[in-house]
Amino acid sequence: MVEREVDYGSYLALEALLELQKPRSVPEHPDEMLFIVVHQASELWFKVLLHEFDALIAALQSGNAAVCLQVIKRINGLVGIISNQLSALDTLPPQRFAQFRGYLGSSSGSQSFQFRAIEAVSGLRDEHFMQAIAEHGVVPPLVARALERPTLQALFLGLLTQHEVTVEDIYRDDSHTTLLLLAEELLEYEQGFARWRFLHVQLVERIIGPATGGTGGTLGAKYLQKTISTRFFPELWAMRAKLYGAVR
Ligand code: HEM
Repeated sequence: MVEREVDYGSYLALEALLELQKPRSVPEHPDEMLFIVVHQASELWFKVLLHEFDALIAALQSGNAAVCLQVIKRINGLVGIISNQLSALDTLPPQRFAQFRGYLGSSSGSQSFQFRAIEAVSGLRDEHFMQAIAEHGVVPPLVARALERPTLQALFLGLLTQHEVTVEDIYRDDSHTTLLLLAEELLEYEQGFARWRFLHVQLVERIIGPATGGTGGTLGAKYLQKTISTRFFPELWAMRAKLYGAVR
């Protein structure tokens, strides 16, 4: 049945959506709109990512590796899109950002609860991460819920157990093609996420410089650099070393 009273604008709630971009600079700085939209678009994609993680977790728990593969491929496509969007801000020259940065107050990407929820779903539990989420007072419910779930690595290892194999088996024995592809696609996710971190640090250095503190009160690029080496799947990285004879 076709819903006659629904059209493009109402289906997408366009009127409300297009009202949400509210530059704060006075007079309005010509570059603030772009700055807001890239952030808002990223947050919308974060929302989709979190939605897809629900599907991935369900698939990992069901033990169906082919479905997992389908979902993680979509997730990786989305991470690529989110990373590529950052390039729009490469066109923001430093002196122009300086003209409206003051209007941001203490707002900072480090307060993005969806970003923290993605990190939590993916598997971060280290001390530095737990400090970062507690820094802004109460842990947002979305993040708290994500922290209660098993990490992606734990879920993947659980799936291997269901299939009665180990990480080592799937890398050493050619007969576990789907599980191996899934492992590599999970690593691809980790790499894609790190690529976002890297492109973001480069953007930050390009616009505010390597030593300028962030609006969120961190050391800026210096703080962000450190996050690039965080790992969601240490077992998959360790497997590489085993293949070259290193003992763990
Ligand atoms: C002009 C462009 C940008 C600049 C200068 C910038 C600057 C910074 C700085 C300095 C930080 C460190 C925290 C702080 O003290 O504020 C940060 C964190 C962050 N920013 Fe940006 N940012 C930019 C664009 C973006 C965009 C487009 C996004 C997309 C959502 C974003 C998301 C984040 C997130 C999620 C964090 C937390 C990262 C972490 O803690 O690992 N930023 N940003």
